[in-house]
Amino acid sequence: MRIPAVALALALASLACAALAADFPEASRLPSLPEMPNPLVLADGSKVTTKEAWFAVRRPELKAQFEHYMYGKAPDAPLKVSATLDREDKQALGGKATLKEITLTLGFRGAPPIHLLLVTPNGRKGPAPVFLGPNFYGNHAVLADSKVALPTGWVPTRSPGEKNNKATEAGRGAQIDAWAADTVTARGYALATFYCGDVAPDHPGHEDGVHPHYPGYDWGTVAAWAWGLSRAADYLVTNPDIDRERIAVVGHSRLGKAAILAGAFDDRFKVVIPHQAGCGGTAPSRGKVGESVQQINERFPHWFNAAFKTFNDGTDRLPFDQNALVALAAPRAVLFSNARGDAWANPQGQFQVLKAAEPVYSLLNAGGLAADTMPETGKLVASTLGYVIRPGKHSMTREDWVFFLDFADKHLKPTQNPSGG
Ligand code: GCU
Repeated sequence: MRIPAVALALALASLACAALAADFPEASRLPSLPEMPNPLVLADGSKVTTKEAWFAVRRPELKAQFEHYMYGKAPDAPLKVSATLDREDKQALGGKATLKEITLTLGFRGAPPIHLLLVTPNGRKGPAPVFLGPNFYGNHAVLADSKVALPTGWVPTRSPGEKNNKATEAGRGAQIDAWAADTVTARGYALATFYCGDVAPDHPGHEDGVHPHYPGYDWGTVAAWAWGLSRAADYLVTNPDIDRERIAVVGHSRLGKAAILAGAFDDRFKVVIPHQAGCGGTAPSRGKVGESVQQINERFPHWFNAAFKTFNDGTDRLPFDQNALVALAAPRAVLFSNARGDAWANPQGQFQVLKAAEPVYSLLNAGGLAADTMPETGKLVASTLGYVIRPGKHSMTREDWVFFLDFADKHLKPTQNPSGG
């Protein structure tokens, strides 16, 4: 008997829906787990005890849960990421570095390009390790350079020099200290950055940026930014100036949420530095300290998916907490960096998140967090799971970069055969 194709497709679709409902019950049907769940315990209650089971079973399960309940599912990498060199200055930063402005074209869906600013130290012996991070206001804000192109799309009203949601010359160089390109390159690292709004402008609606090019995906803006980081990595691993085994991903605050998500899902990021990322990134979703899930979902409805909002008044029903996101990065190095005056990002809770990621790092013999209590102000704990808290407030500063660089020096050791290109 021949089954008509339509009937077969409908039957398969309803089977898929049934499987989805079984795998991902609604928030109200999930058990209450008042403490951060152990990332080694599978959804069926059994425990992972081997590296193989972690990578083959639990890690994919957790990734799917984070996609379903929180960040949304991002599309796969486009078939092709093409790079065009728009401008090169071999005498940047007083002759110490080479600056490139590169346009990355993402596949064939007409998705908007990413404008990557790449600064590499001159006089190197081989390919350079690199820090990759998205910026808040545009590449022109990152350097004292009269020629770096301004973003042409929407920028937030708090952007330096903004006029009617457009970047202007007045913002040029406004973020020099936040990116410290001179210090980064003097320490032998390249710096790669792009304006986050190239991928997804930071406003509710998802009607511009990459979202309209991928209908049917429920990804929030944080996931889109993380996806953009992975697309920039697609290019960086092909660039002979860059050591593709030594890529650190960094981001501040909402962009730190993107950095930890990118680091968790994309193994090419060998060091992951979400700076002051807080709720929805590095702080626990459970508990009452700092920003709550309800507050973040109400103020920034576009950052996460619709399912995450169903946990607004019941974060205890989340089948994971952010310790599991860190665990997805294992055995790679992750640094949480914070400021004393940034209670909104819950620095103490972030320390607990790292502690609660340790079971996975232990299983993989990857070390852990070499501190039982929060370190004193200004002291970097540089173990595989690293932590630092400095004085001051919510911002990214030159002082922070010294910690980022010290941490990267320890965890991004030069490889025997550096593999650019
Ligand atoms: C707000 C928001 C935080 C976010 C921060 C930022 O304060 O509540 O979640 O991290 O903005 O991105 O600076």
